[in-house]
Amino acid sequence: MWRDVAGSGSGRNCAGWLGVLCVSAALLLAACDARSPQRESARAAASDASDASREGGVQMQKVSADAAAGPAGGQTRAQVYESVRKVTAIGNKLFFDPSLSGSGKLACASCHSPQHAFGPPNALSVQLGGRDMRQQGMRAAPNIKYLQKVPSFTEHYHDSDDEGDESVDVGPTGGLMWDGRVNSAHDQARMPLTSAFEMGSSPARVAAAVRAAPYASQFRDAFGEHVFDSDDATFKAVLQALEVFEESPELFYPYSSKYDAFLAGRAQLTKAELHGLQLFNDETKGNCASCHLSQRARDGSAPAFTDFGLIAIGVPRNRSLAVNRDPHFYDLGACGPERADLKGRDEYCGIFRTPSLRNVALRRTFFHNGIYHSLDEVVRFYAQRDTNPEKFYPVVKGKVQKFDDLPRKYWTNLKTDPPFDRKPGDKPALDESEIKDVVAFLQTLTDGYHPEAPQQHADAHIVSSK
Ligand code: HEC
Ligand code: HEC
Repeated sequence: MWRDVAGSGSGRNCAGWLGVLCVSAALLLAACDARSPQRESARAAASDASDASREGGVQMQKVSADAAAGPAGGQTRAQVYESVRKVTAIGNKLFFDPSLSGSGKLACASCHSPQHAFGPPNALSVQLGGRDMRQQGMRAAPNIKYLQKVPSFTEHYHDSDDEGDESVDVGPTGGLMWDGRVNSAHDQARMPLTSAFEMGSSPARVAAAVRAAPYASQFRDAFGEHVFDSDDATFKAVLQALEVFEESPELFYPYSSKYDAFLAGRAQLTKAELHGLQLFNDETKGNCASCHLSQRARDGSAPAFTDFGLIAIGVPRNRSLAVNRDPHFYDLGACGPERADLKGRDEYCGIFRTPSLRNVALRRTFFHNGIYHSLDEVVRFYAQRDTNPEKFYPVVKGKVQKFDDLPRKYWTNLKTDPPFDRKPGDKPALDESEIKDVVAFLQTLTDGYHPEAPQQHADAHIVSSK
């Protein structure tokens, strides 16, 4: 398992920080100072960077490759820190700037709102975009916090934390996007910027917008005077600034939820939350933690609430999406059509990356196709998918069309471990009051918890709840 770059909570350590700085520094220098004579220190920075990349997971991977390709100057740690600070500030501006988009109306933040854990600000299943702001994508915008631990996509993942045995192949894991098709935030940012149904822009348009932006001189200051020489150089710098911004620990991985405070012994859970946690972990009840890891890793790092696995759980077809008006169209996740490299690999059809559940309560749309709009519905789906399938799938002539978004030949890909080990007539894995408690627990995963009261108040809260 990847180690968290910046550490977490009390585990925050300097080496981690340095890793970030080295990576970011090497990347900055590769971007802005191609004329530096100091090739030796460049190599040193690049090799530090790739050390950090192995620990940092997906976002770091491409950065270090960039860094390795370009020379870096010999800078002091303070200078490096200053560069990172400047580029982060630029990334912040870019993230909120709608002028980069084809319509002039859509920023990254329109779909990844900071008030919503950098997820969608509304309950739409999928956000609208494109030049006319009316194009519908096919997937829900994910929260983009806590992506720093996502490993690069691999078909055969060996996780020493999981079984205590690294020879166990836990299958396809990692990669950004719902289908794991992208291996760095850097490559990732290119997609919404140029996608027809998202920002609908182009490198030339983005470059022109940045040159005309109020922060243009700040941009030049951060990336060097040659950054405006070509659209390509400007566009690359934009992608790098966005990537560095998305690595700001205080914004993107603060580990400041009530559950983190609970794990650190600084908060108590209410009776309902605690019961929800038990049900979440219990292998015969929710069994949620088998995919959404809830315990600290062996190295002590905070739980990610995902094992990053790509898994098929048979989410119902969302008939409100424009793409689904075509009865022959299926979003099959890793085997396509959005993702092209695993096309024709039947064993990958219907699988999507398990999302982190940190801050999930700030979302109002759930699953890759945004079919559900409340956590109750989601947890009920897990509990009753197999005992009461008629509640979730269409019923035609008295027959339930189970797994209506996955052609039958791929059904063998579906998970059959609890809570998906039942049939009609069986008792659901969770009853209604247990579903409520699991939802109460999920609400403890929201960042920004401040234990406002001393111990006895917290106790009073426990007594008064339920
Ligand atoms: C119109 C809405 C929209 C806009 C604007 C948008 N995104 Fe996204 N973003 C999405 C959707 C939808 C996905 C998931 C796509 C998929 O899985 O195919 C996504 C995925 C991501 C991911 C990967 C998340 C994960 O869990 O793997 C990152 C990172 C990201 N976006 C960053 C950005 C950045 C940076 C910008 C601005 C340059 C941006 N997005 C603009 C909708 C948007
Ligand atoms: C077998 C692995 C697995 C198990 C067990 C599991 N999940 Fe999930 N979870 C996933 C995957 C994969 C997705 C994304 C599925 C998709 O969108 O197609 C997901 C999505 C979710 C989401 C939506 C998050 C979002 O951002 O849209 C929630 C909420 C959730 N799970 C909660 C739970 C709870 C609660 C349990 C236990 C009752 C549970 N999960 C058990 C794998 C699992």
